[in-house]
Amino acid sequence: MESGTAGIGREVAVEVVTTASLAPSIHNTQPWRWRLAAGRLALAPDVGRRLPVLDPDGRQLVVSCGAALLHARLACRVLGLEPEVELLPGSAGRPGPEPALRDDLVLATLDVRGRHAPTDADRLLFSAAGARHTDRRPFADQPLEPVLLEQLRRAAEAEGAWLMPLAHSDQRLGAAVVAARADWAEQTDPAYRAELATWRRADGPAGDGVPTDVAATHHPFRASDFPLRDFDTTGTADAAGTAGGPPPTENPTVIVLGTDADQTEDRLRAGQALARVLLTVTAAGAAASPLGQPVDSDGYRSVIERMLSIAGHIQMILRVGYPRRDAAASTLTPRRPLGEILVID
Ligand SMILES: Cc1cc2nc3c(=O)[nH]c(=O)nc-3n(C[C@H](O)[C@H](O)[C@H](O)COP(=O)(O)O)c2cc1C
Repeated sequence: MESGTAGIGREVAVEVVTTASLAPSIHNTQPWRWRLAAGRLALAPDVGRRLPVLDPDGRQLVVSCGAALLHARLACRVLGLEPEVELLPGSAGRPGPEPALRDDLVLATLDVRGRHAPTDADRLLFSAAGARHTDRRPFADQPLEPVLLEQLRRAAEAEGAWLMPLAHSDQRLGAAVVAARADWAEQTDPAYRAELATWRRADGPAGDGVPTDVAATHHPFRASDFPLRDFDTTGTADAAGTAGGPPPTENPTVIVLGTDADQTEDRLRAGQALARVLLTVTAAGAAASPLGQPVDSDGYRSVIERMLSIAGHIQMILRVGYPRRDAAASTLTPRRPLGEILVID
């Protein structure tokens, strides 16, 4: 198997798609479908899982699919296979209109080209895939190690994206004000709340959506300059965890991940960068959660881009930090069964 397409078999496909399914996705919608045909995996969007209110043009759906693609590539490498990916086969790089987001659009194909010995870095990130989760708990009052910040920057750049920490207090203040305003706009939008409620899982196990025990809820004593997305749509959030007085104000490191352009291909790259960044965070013993509200709408997103003098496009804002030593254990969010997301021809 020196050169040429080695072909993906059934067993490898199952391993690869299982790892891909561990990727983060907006509201845990897992909006992806995989098909194995002629030794090649094809990734397509599951358009019925798009969020019409939060994500009308499907940007965050595509970013989520990009994250799954990075996980799939990593699984191939750890299996000793050299992955070869083509984004938007047949249309990438060609002038013309953007491909419409439809169930039959192939976002990417994944082939294997010969064998490759996995590196230590591949193994480290792969083992992080099983442990990574969105951690919305308060973080320790400890700045991110500069060496980790540098690793995150390189992880984003390796996937064709860029990463910028909000290092200056004026940048941070401006972004926090926009984030608070965007959060308020969503909280007071009945359509947004109704859509969120359909992905909130309060009643036992489900294969998708955000379970209440991993979701953050606003309560009067959780003070942070950047609001987390409040998954409580019932308005009954209590002040859990406030015994003994209010906890200290949270001051997490905030990083911005973006791309120079904002086409489907760029969004796929952003998703791969996001996944590589998040796995690097987990592998370093740190934790992260997206601060999505300011980039949900094009309006607030471009306000922040202008404010930060960014020529490109913000794809994600993340808070990153270290879990507190006294924090209760956090749990993993469920995934859909493989039979729902993988078709083998
Ligand atoms: C594009 C995208 C946007 C997201 N936005 C938010 C957000 O605004 N707030 C949040 O708490 N989590 C956000 N998440 C995290 C998802 O809710 C999370 O990935 C999903 O529930 C699965 O959980 P896990 O990451 O723990 O596996 C986002 C994830 C993606 C990929």
